[in-house]
Amino acid sequence: MSTQYTDRVIEGMQSLYGKGFLSPGGPDEMQVFLECVDLTGCHVLDMGCGIGGASIMLAGTFGADHVTGVDIANDLVERAKVAAEAADVGSKTSFQPLETGVLPFDDGTFDVVFIKDVVCHIEDKNGIFAEVARVLETGGRLMCADFVDGERADELSQLYQDWIDAMAAYGLSFHFTKLDAYSGACEAAGMGDFTVRDHTALSAKAAEKEVTFLTGPDCGPLHEVLGEEKFAARIQASTMRFGALDSAALRHVHMYATKR
Ligand SMILES: C[S@@+](CC[C@H](N)C(=O)[O-])C[C@H]1O[C@@H](n2cnc3c(N)ncnc32)[C@H](O)[C@@H]1O
Repeated sequence: MSTQYTDRVIEGMQSLYGKGFLSPGGPDEMQVFLECVDLTGCHVLDMGCGIGGASIMLAGTFGADHVTGVDIANDLVERAKVAAEAADVGSKTSFQPLETGVLPFDDGTFDVVFIKDVVCHIEDKNGIFAEVARVLETGGRLMCADFVDGERADELSQLYQDWIDAMAAYGLSFHFTKLDAYSGACEAAGMGDFTVRDHTALSAKAAEKEVTFLTGPDCGPLHEVLGEEKFAARIQASTMRFGALDSAALRHVHMYATKR
C-alpha cells in the first residue's frame, strides 16, 4: 500500500515536527514520552513507524537493543530504512511493510510496543490492541501516544469537525474516539495497569508554535514546497488543531499498559 502522505506533505511535516517525524511533537515529545521508561536490552516494535524518526531515537538515544518498525505504507518503510542507515542505527533496526491489520510476528516477540499517533487513524481499536497484546511477551509494555476526544468534544463538535475536514483537505483521515475506547480495548486484550499522562498542554503549545511559524516571515521555503493550496490547508489544520486542543475538544495523551 502506498502512503496517504505525498512527498510534499512529508517534507512539510518534517519541517514543522522535526526530521524523521510525521507526527506533531517530534524529538521533544519523545523525551517526555520516554522519561519514565527504560528500554535497555529491549526488543521494541514501532507500530506505524512512518519515516523512522522515532525508531531511530528508540534505538539510538534511548538504547533499545533492537527496534522493528512496521507501517502499512511501503514507501514510508523504505524511507525509514535509508534514514536509519544514515543515522548509524541500521544494524539495530529493521523495517517492514504490513499487508493487513495482522502483525506478522509470533506471539510474545516484543518487550515493548511503541505507537506514536497512529491508532487515531485506525477504526478498529479492539482489533489493533488485541494484536499488540498478542505480540507482547508477558510483562511486556505498551506505550501509545494519541489524540483522543476531549471532554468538550460533543459540545464543540463543529470546531472538531472543521479540523477533521481541514486535515482531510491536507490528505489525512482520522477515527477519533474517547479515551475509554483505548482503556477498554487494552483491558479486553489482556493488558492491565493502564495509566495515562496528559500531554494536551504541550501539544497545544507545539500547535501554536506551528501557527506562529506558518504565518511568520520564515515560512517562505515551506510555502514553496507545499504550493498554495496545501500551504493554506496546512495553516488551517495547525490552527484548528491548536483550537481543538486549547478548548478541550481534543486531548493528546501518553498511555502505558502492561501485558498480563
Ligand atoms: C501520524 S503518522 C505517525 C508516524 C510515526 N509514528 C511518527 O510519529 O512519525 C501515522 C502513521 O501510521 C501509519 N498507519 C496508519 N494506519 C496504520 C495501520 N493500520 N497499521 C500500521 N500503520 C498504520 C501511517 O502510514 C503513518 O505512517
